[in-house]
Amino acid sequence: MWIRYGSVTDVTMDQIVSLCRRRGFVFPSSEIYGGLSSTYDYGHYGVLMKNEIRQAWLRAMVQERDDIVALDSAVILNPAVWEASGHVAGFTDPLVDCRTCKLRFRADKLEDSQCGKRPSKKPGEDAQCDLTEARQFNLMFQTQVGALEGASSTAFLRPETAQGIFINFKNVLQLARRKPPFGIAQTGKSFRNEITPGNFLFRVREFEQMEMEFFVPPADAPKWHEYWIEQRLDWHLGLGLRREMVRVRPHEAEELSHYSSATSDIEYLYPIGWQELEGVANRGDYDLTQHTKSSGTKLEFVGQDGERYVPYVIEPAVSIERIFVALLCDAYHEEVVGERERTVLRLSPRVAPVKAAVLPLISKDTGMATHARNLFEELRKRFSVEHDDSGQIGRRYRRQDEIGTPWAFTIDEQTLEDETVTVRDRDSLAQERIPISGVASWLSAALEQPWSPPAAA
Ligand code: GAP
Repeated sequence: MWIRYGSVTDVTMDQIVSLCRRRGFVFPSSEIYGGLSSTYDYGHYGVLMKNEIRQAWLRAMVQERDDIVALDSAVILNPAVWEASGHVAGFTDPLVDCRTCKLRFRADKLEDSQCGKRPSKKPGEDAQCDLTEARQFNLMFQTQVGALEGASSTAFLRPETAQGIFINFKNVLQLARRKPPFGIAQTGKSFRNEITPGNFLFRVREFEQMEMEFFVPPADAPKWHEYWIEQRLDWHLGLGLRREMVRVRPHEAEELSHYSSATSDIEYLYPIGWQELEGVANRGDYDLTQHTKSSGTKLEFVGQDGERYVPYVIEPAVSIERIFVALLCDAYHEEVVGERERTVLRLSPRVAPVKAAVLPLISKDTGMATHARNLFEELRKRFSVEHDDSGQIGRRYRRQDEIGTPWAFTIDEQTLEDETVTVRDRDSLAQERIPISGVASWLSAALEQPWSPPAAA
């Protein structure tokens, strides 16, 4: 038997979209009504994998630290929050319309866009193109609060979770009895009316952010900024991304957001090239100062010795969607095993949606079926596991390979004789026998093991 590993850099977004669709990770949303552009629904495996990503983030950010607390703020905040934060005035992209093809483009991304009538050309290049002047387009979705429509009831869906943290700074300072350096972490949906969403989940209008605002004495901000860039890079590598596919890129001065004095992006080599996976920004005292001015509530730290200052903020911010796509691209392989082709997701067991499958070799054999069912019932209490008794065993293995299940426990004739099962490893395809009574502790220990992506052969 030989295995040929595919090269991950050859993976296309179409292959990822097709796998997600085929195996029920992600579906186009509102499909029976013709869909809604760049909007997706997550199926069973997508939900399980997103939960793993969120849990891993919360574990690293909150559970395993003394200096960070959790928050879950509202999606719709007082509109004054977005005035103060600068989003009403400045959270905009420059937009141009084409009067000929009726498409909209980001004026600063024309080079990366395709003309609606002549896709081989950029917008504006063809004689038929008729572009409007650029105008600023605010990316916040508006809604109405209450039954009355009008300016006084206009509110926004949050475009970032961060502002919910800043406006709770005083609550946390007092009630959680924290002093800088300390952080507040939250995960939750954010909404942006992106002009050019696309590339599957990479840029969508509704996504789940995981943001942490770390409040520090101003003089220590550069040191903490470096610290968080390193921490976050290590965290992504710990999820299983290969080192050569991830890099850190400091922003040029002209790229910086209005609130940032320094930002570094952790980038992943997606099929569309190097792109932002996570941003780590030094937001200075911008947000706390703005909310102090606008609300009249002083957002500052006052020490017991009378020391008083507005903390600086270091912010690592990422979306589950960007991580989800990076993990799938990194893990996707098409390969030939013996004479057979298989598609396999070499996901880290930590993020794999299903940790193990329980498979009776012959489902009609009542002895094997009973053993398999009993083992499955035992394991499901502690782990995300699947029981599959339909079809040939080879096909069942390949179904599990495609969703990234790291191990399969197979119940066969020998199980009936000596109470052992076969463990099949997704990556090496090695098989070993272990006692059926020890499967749960074997799986628990295997999930604790450090994991790194297998080297390409
Ligand atoms: N609070 C800072 C902030 O929101 P950002 O760079 O605009 O900064 C942070 O967004 C992260 O959110 C990005 O690094 C990316 O992971 C994710 N993100 C932003 N826009 C997104 C979109 N339209 N679709 C998916 N993820 C997005």
